[in-house]
Amino acid sequence: MTSGEAMFTPAVQQIEELVADIPGWTPIDQLYTLFTLVLASSHLDGEILEVGSWCGRSSVVLALASRLSGNSPVTCIDLFPGRDDWRQNSDGSYSFEVTIGGKRYGGYQDQTVWQEPFERDIAPLYESHDSIQELFMENVTRKGFSDLVRSLRGTSEQLAGSPGYRCRLAFLDGDHGYEAVCRDIENVERHLVPGGWITFDDAFTCYDGVDQAIRERIIDSGRYESCQQMTRKLFVARLRRPE
Ligand SMILES: C[S@@+](CC[C@H](N)C(=O)[O-])C[C@H]1O[C@@H](n2cnc3c(N)ncnc32)[C@H](O)[C@@H]1O
Repeated sequence: MTSGEAMFTPAVQQIEELVADIPGWTPIDQLYTLFTLVLASSHLDGEILEVGSWCGRSSVVLALASRLSGNSPVTCIDLFPGRDDWRQNSDGSYSFEVTIGGKRYGGYQDQTVWQEPFERDIAPLYESHDSIQELFMENVTRKGFSDLVRSLRGTSEQLAGSPGYRCRLAFLDGDHGYEAVCRDIENVERHLVPGGWITFDDAFTCYDGVDQAIRERIIDSGRYESCQQMTRKLFVARLRRPE
């Protein structure tokens, strides 16, 4: 090795290469922040949680960081809509509804997906797969993380079925409505270890529900410290340790 040669592939490059062929929305700067938080929290008890995984773009980055820092399991919760769950609204945009355990759940109901991004980014995925969960598992397996990642179809309510579950980092990127984000915070908080982190996608940009939930349930709650806007769209907060 020459003196100027890097000993390791830089983390950002590893992340870019890992997600290059996984469709999704989380940009590299946010992925890098999530990666760093998994590494920096590896001294805490608890696992890694993601609510809103889609095809696994952010999930594999959480898994990569976990692999490098002790192999904590990564639980990925999503409604994982199937091809036939989507419907076109009267204005041409799209929403979905899924039935899980006899209960109906809606996705993209208030902020719907416009026709052009739906036809460009979403519809083609269903040409090869009936459901997004299939594609998610395929991506996780292809990237070598099937031993670390488990997928759960549903919402953060699923956590109620695992009372002993503990997490140290939760990435919330599911429903962006006010009530849904409040519910996600409440459901995750029951399992978050002291000093553990909650991170929010799309904070303080154009989702009023996300902003209001963060203000009321995180910033004004007094239960969190180190509340920070980390990238243009990612907000992170650390649960206080007991005094
Ligand atoms: C923006 S995408 C997630 C993007 C993903 N994190 C990435 O990096 O590509 C939002 C996801 O949330 C899921 N979703 C919508 N409402 C949900 C809810 N209430 N609970 C869990 N997932 C939900 C959708 O099915 C969709 O996969």
